[in-house]
Amino acid sequence: MEASIKQAVRKVLIYPLDKLQHLSFYRRLAGLLKRGITIKEANEEGMRSFYRWVNPKKPIAIRRNPNVTNFVAKKAHKVIDFVQLVTHPNNNLYSGWWLSSLSIKPIYRGMGIGEELTKAVIEKAKTHGAKELSLVVREDNKNAIGLYKKIGFKRKIKPGLEENLEKEAIKTGHRRILMSVNLRTEGVTMPNDEI
Ligand SMILES: CC(C)(COP(=O)(O)OP(=O)(O)OC[C@H]1O[C@@H](n2cnc3c(N)ncnc32)[C@H](O)[C@@H]1OP(=O)(O)O)[C@@H](O)C(=O)NCCC(=O)NCCS
Repeated sequence: MEASIKQAVRKVLIYPLDKLQHLSFYRRLAGLLKRGITIKEANEEGMRSFYRWVNPKKPIAIRRNPNVTNFVAKKAHKVIDFVQLVTHPNNNLYSGWWLSSLSIKPIYRGMGIGEELTKAVIEKAKTHGAKELSLVVREDNKNAIGLYKKIGFKRKIKPGLEENLEKEAIKTGHRRILMSVNLRTEGVTMPNDEI
């Protein structure tokens, strides 16, 4: 199919789906369809599959970065979602542990996969002894902010970073905010912790 036709078909299907995904009733039902979806730290094959999803035409170059852990959600052998745990060891504004690049394929949104991926990142950060996990998110991204708040993230003001985000907003027209979760006192209780 021509790329433009594919895009048009996608728009026609995705717009009503997006509306449905706003309904908590839909999200409860969609959660039942999650079976068969697995969440894993990505190995090389998983990363290849992810890059093919992002840009099927671009040649794939995989570079290992010890400060990044990639997670993918897969259905059969296809990557449908992605998130990263990133640490910046240097003592600067971005030092610490960060959740980055959370992204769910539109058709799989509202099933609870974003929540599971975020929890996987939190658990991994905890195994590294992280006290806090942070992220930046566009302030108009209600779905993502709803997800992060549900898990225990709160808006945080970090002097220096706040000014950077202000400057970025002037350049791009998009204001991002910092959110963090204290992993010692809040955040997720995974089923294993309950035992
Ligand atoms: C934001 C995003 C990651 C959410 O992932 P998801 O798998 O669809 O979210 P989940 O199904 O796990 O939902 C978890 C919670 O998030 C909130 N939420 C997610 N989608 C929502 C929607 N469409 N409407 C309202 N709340 C929503 C709800 O609080 C929901 O909990 P609930 O169903 O018990 O009410 C996904 O929509 C996405 O990939 N968006 C585009 C990329 C993006 O914005 N990434 C974040 C960058 S910081």
